[in-house]
Amino acid sequence: MTNKYSRAFRLAILLLLTFVSQVKADEGMWIPMLIGKNYDQMKKQGFKLTPADLYNINKASIKDAIVSMGGGFCTAEVVSGHGLLFTNHHCGYEAIAANSTPQNDILDNGFYARSYSEEKLIPGLFVDFLVRMEDITPQVTTALKNTSDADKGSKLQQISQQLINNATKGTNYHGSVNDFYKGNQYFLYIYEKYTDIRLVGAPPQSIGKFGGDTDNWEWPRHTGDFSIFRIYSGKDGKPADYTTDNVPLSPKKFLPISIKGIKNGDFAMVYGYPGRTDRFLTSNGIRLATEETNPIIVKLRDIRLRAWKEEMNKSVDTRLKLSSEYAQIANYWKYFIGQTDQLKHLRIDTQKQAEEAEFSRWAADKPEYMGLMQKYHDIYTAYEPYAIHRTYINEGLLAPGFVITTLLLNRSLAAISAQADNQEKVAAIRKGQEETNSKYVATYNETADKKIFAQILAAFYQDVPRSQHPQFLEDILLKYKGTTPEVSFSNYADYLWANSRLIQPARLKEFMNNPSLADLAKDPAYQYASNINPQNYVRNVFGSKLSDFETQKIALDHLYEKALLEKNEGKLMYPDANSTMRISYGNVQDYAPKDGVEYKIQTTLDGVIEKYKAKDSEFDLPPSLLDAYQHKIFGQYGVDGTVPVDFITNNDITGGNSGSPVINGNGELIGLAFDGNWEAMSGDIAFDKKYKRTICVDIRYVLWCIDVLGHGNNLIDELDIHKK
Ligand code: ARG
Repeated sequence: MTNKYSRAFRLAILLLLTFVSQVKADEGMWIPMLIGKNYDQMKKQGFKLTPADLYNINKASIKDAIVSMGGGFCTAEVVSGHGLLFTNHHCGYEAIAANSTPQNDILDNGFYARSYSEEKLIPGLFVDFLVRMEDITPQVTTALKNTSDADKGSKLQQISQQLINNATKGTNYHGSVNDFYKGNQYFLYIYEKYTDIRLVGAPPQSIGKFGGDTDNWEWPRHTGDFSIFRIYSGKDGKPADYTTDNVPLSPKKFLPISIKGIKNGDFAMVYGYPGRTDRFLTSNGIRLATEETNPIIVKLRDIRLRAWKEEMNKSVDTRLKLSSEYAQIANYWKYFIGQTDQLKHLRIDTQKQAEEAEFSRWAADKPEYMGLMQKYHDIYTAYEPYAIHRTYINEGLLAPGFVITTLLLNRSLAAISAQADNQEKVAAIRKGQEETNSKYVATYNETADKKIFAQILAAFYQDVPRSQHPQFLEDILLKYKGTTPEVSFSNYADYLWANSRLIQPARLKEFMNNPSLADLAKDPAYQYASNINPQNYVRNVFGSKLSDFETQKIALDHLYEKALLEKNEGKLMYPDANSTMRISYGNVQDYAPKDGVEYKIQTTLDGVIEKYKAKDSEFDLPPSLLDAYQHKIFGQYGVDGTVPVDFITNNDITGGNSGSPVINGNGELIGLAFDGNWEAMSGDIAFDKKYKRTICVDIRYVLWCIDVLGHGNNLIDELDIHKK
């Protein structure tokens, strides 16, 4: 699953500045360094290696074969002695789409490099290896002692920077400090970043994204969700920015592959970088999501998807241009539909209320924790009237691409003028802004963009309580008056598009030839954007209500998890995902989605063919596949007259885990994790043991696609394939 926090969202955050379970199996995303605590259980479930095989800082271990991609949107694993990486197709999607044109359409036709020289550099893509991690809770706790709540943030930043500097001095490493259990524990992470990453191969998207949005988040599944990259280094093996002299990385460790096959109950482990879970969210938060904010997210994404789809149907060029953005928005559009449905269906709020009542009984005689649940209730009650408006900021007001682009442009120009005599700094800022602009331009579509702009504002007008409407919107409505709010906002869009120098790509390019802060300030698109610059907007419309809610919630969450750690002393309790490396162990496991229905652990090529619909945008198949199926060319990957395609395990994963290796009890790669299942879409908030499954592409399908359909023998030869 791809991290739900897209680049746009992270940018928005930048502008904003910013259950306890008995360990059995499956549930839990465990910390690699501490995996020894789970070892007995893992062994019982079929794990044959030792904790040191998983994580070791003195010699190569499995952690050294696993990387986080692009700062955490996905995971990938090294599978050869020449730095070859496997990840999901949807993780490589942007890179594949960006290298596709109607003339050389590798998104639709697939592509396998026959030699190093055919591999395609992906500018901006990087991977991080974890060098080591360290528990720094004592240092942080000491540093934060006697610090007021208000000063905690900056103090934490200061001590973190100091610890990172000490740990990385004289190396090419970088570090980060992450908090666990809502600030009850802290770890320092040291990483090594490689920046020369090249695209090596991908199946046609009719395989890599087979089933499209219809099958997304659902089992039974028939998707070949894989793509191939390679890490390059300098001749010394160290990270180096792209040059033609760079060589394929000789990794410390790579994963062998097993094509022996799997059966129900086999040990399975997912090792990667889960992004975020919210397993300790209280019933108040769940109610707010299901009743108020999730439906708004879905509605706003729907506006974007419809407008894009209409344009994508008009030309191949437009389809290729918009398909990556479309897929990203569509992925979490369906996610939020499913999450809402399943939170309700599984009655997660009732379940949480019972846990909270039990907690309150336990806390009744403990002064530090008593009344905690009432306090949650109170802060949510005060915040609730603003929750929809808050959701509209990220998912609506900041969604039109020009808004963030012009806000960042203002920031860049201000920084440039402050640094005018530092040529190097100026060049770097300019380069950063050019990248922002080109991302914006890459998905620019005048018809869709205007429509989205007007429809989002009209929806805002309708959904956000009138008393919270900012004056500038009322002014726009008055000045560009039409028969409905949508017509008015559409008139306003016409005005902006005709008069701004920052919206249309050609004019933006011209503006950038001689950009000035004064001209920016006069531009109507910037004037509009600056009205919704979150830094001012949030304060103007919410006063201190939003920041109060957030600060109070952070404090309550911290206390709640502190209490839970205390309440569960002696038992193992896993922390929420936070984009750090985790291990989830469990088994290949079937399930019953509803009464009278049983789902098997594995799908096959026969099922792919059953779903086949010629020329359909989601269920078409490439001729090579149809041909190989017809002639039963299954190579060494066939079983019982077909090829295994996808399988399920009961592992605990979330967005960011996409592309993670699924590893058997012997440490061999058996598949790549790529999705969750519909019946457990509430999983980021509550893990349901009965229903929650991880959907994986079987490594035999991956190899069959590369080998038999793609004739990528050069790649197969690099791998260490175990047949028994
Ligand atoms: N749901 C998957 C995930 O979050 C993405 C699958 C991509 N496929 C798609 N049809 N969008 O990682």
